[in-house]
Amino acid sequence: MNNSFVMKCLTVNEKGNLSMGGCDIADVAAKYGTPAYIMDEDEIRENCRVYTGAMREYYDGKGLVLYASKALSCKYMYRIMREEGMGVDVVSGGELYTAIKAGFPAERIYFHGNNKTGDEIEMALREGVGTIVVDNIFELETLSRFAGDMGKTADVMFRIKPGIDAHTHSFVQTGQIDSKFGVALETGEAEDIVVKAAAMPNINVVGVHCHIGSQIFELAPFELAAEKMMNFIADMKDRHGIVMDRLNLGGGYGIKYTESDTPIDYDKYICAVAKVVRGISESRGVKLPYIVMEPGRSIVAEAGLTVYTVGTVKEIPGIRTYISVDGGMGDNPRYILYQSEYEAARVHDPNAEKTMVATIAGKCCESGDILIDGARLPEIKAGDLIAVLATGAYNYSMASNYNRIPRPPIVMVSGGEAKLAVKRESYDDLILNDL
Ligand code: LLP
Repeated sequence: MNNSFVMKCLTVNEKGNLSMGGCDIADVAAKYGTPAYIMDEDEIRENCRVYTGAMREYYDGKGLVLYASKALSCKYMYRIMREEGMGVDVVSGGELYTAIKAGFPAERIYFHGNNKTGDEIEMALREGVGTIVVDNIFELETLSRFAGDMGKTADVMFRIKPGIDAHTHSFVQTGQIDSKFGVALETGEAEDIVVKAAAMPNINVVGVHCHIGSQIFELAPFELAAEKMMNFIADMKDRHGIVMDRLNLGGGYGIKYTESDTPIDYDKYICAVAKVVRGISESRGVKLPYIVMEPGRSIVAEAGLTVYTVGTVKEIPGIRTYISVDGGMGDNPRYILYQSEYEAARVHDPNAEKTMVATIAGKCCESGDILIDGARLPEIKAGDLIAVLATGAYNYSMASNYNRIPRPPIVMVSGGEAKLAVKRESYDDLILNDL
């Protein structure tokens, strides 16, 4: 079986069709229609186990891996995470609501966000969310007030800007002060908020958090962030006697969207960071903290593809060929937002000679509605099925109804069975809230 795709869970079956989780992608498309997100459930679970296994190996199991659910939030995903012994990170009342409705244990939820509303804070306290990651002083005061009124004590972490911008090609150490998220280390803002919080009666300071960016391929910025955070924990103990025994190192590990992407091995990253954390714990005499991580993209991206049906193939002589499909920026806004690159495969005989270079465009009334510019594909004609690969993260979760196009379903495949995790929206769903 051929496995030359960016998604390692993808193969070609005896009919010559793309296959995932033992299911023929053409059969799934026939049953559930197109466009459709198709996800390999075993791959998602396996990715969780890579992280939970590394946590056991490098931190003696003293930690928790959170799935950053903004990457793909639906009840089915929270159920998988519960079964895999993961925690989850949520960033809004909507994600929190979905997790709770899916029966996810509230104590394993971390609540993020740079502008949590009063309603969201009240909801988090009422539902018994395990940890609130406080972004700023205003939020801390609001949280303290709500917790006081409700007779509760909130476990909090602080979102720290460690001063690392991992998005510059070679990362620099100052860039991130200009960020809407968190409190800065080097200005003393982080120290201030920790000291203030430690004196508040309804607040229990448990630790600190940082997240230095997303789709990162280098180890060094993660090591440097861990170093800075550990030193901050030690400084707070030395200067103020404040003990913080939990360290959340965020997410951000890059995935393979195209052949030119070279993700780091997650296990290697965790091993390298653990060395830094253990080293500083010893040299500065602070207890090894309970470690929290928050991978999102790397749990789901490579487990998912989107299958489309080709409508028109339009050749503009001497310019380019447009292949228009029945979805587009509504189900995958990442090209129009970030010029993100993807690879595509024809569902039938995907390894046939790639004779075509074309732009895969969506069906929205927007010239920028493109999925892939310069896709290399075998000959494509109207009615063919095309899969855009590695769309499992930040596609469904950022999808919109632009042009009143219903969102596609999510189909989970595993062991030769396909089942719906999210139904396709109907036209009636689109007018549900219209008065
Ligand atoms: N933790 C925090 C606090 C975050 O802000 C994020 C992502 C994560 C964890 C997970 O990062 P990951 O492991 O997925 O890289 N919409 C963009 C990505 C935005 C990421 C925002 N924060 C995209 O489509 O590329």
